[in-house]
Amino acid sequence: MAQQNASVLFVCLGNICRSPSAEAVFKHKAKQRQLDLHIDSAGTMGYHTGCPPDERSQQVGEARGYDFSGLACRRVSAEDFEIFDYIVAMDHQNLENLKEACPAPLHHKLHLLMSFADLEEDIVPDPYYGGKKGFEYVLDLIEEASDGLISHIQGRS
Ligand code: 4NP
Repeated sequence: MAQQNASVLFVCLGNICRSPSAEAVFKHKAKQRQLDLHIDSAGTMGYHTGCPPDERSQQVGEARGYDFSGLACRRVSAEDFEIFDYIVAMDHQNLENLKEACPAPLHHKLHLLMSFADLEEDIVPDPYYGGKKGFEYVLDLIEEASDGLISHIQGRS
């Protein structure tokens, strides 16, 4: 049965490139499908706390129609493990860091985003030190996996 009012937290390292992009894409797709979901993002480190998403993420994302307004970087908190149904990591390091911080009975909430896509790539690679192409690739992967995650939440896979 479809899960109503599910909540999803996307997590990367800095919460300025990948996870805010996933938040923007997922909010867009949820709205298109008229799904009432609580969607947020956070980082495993807090260096950029309070900052808006990276300019490059905003540029490539807005060109595809995604809305980044109002997003501000924050660090994952202990409360997040209680509040969210799905805590979705971009790469293996993010997932390991989450496992260390998350109480064992809640580990079932932790996932790799790319586990919801039928692609060779199993992570969303960090684009921070690369060029625009890397940011486009991040969006390609997020868009594909978001469709899979929505189907999963809706109980269709
Ligand atoms: P993100 O990318 O984890 O996708 O937000 C990064 C952003 C900042 C840094 C590393 C990765 N940093 O080292 O500042």
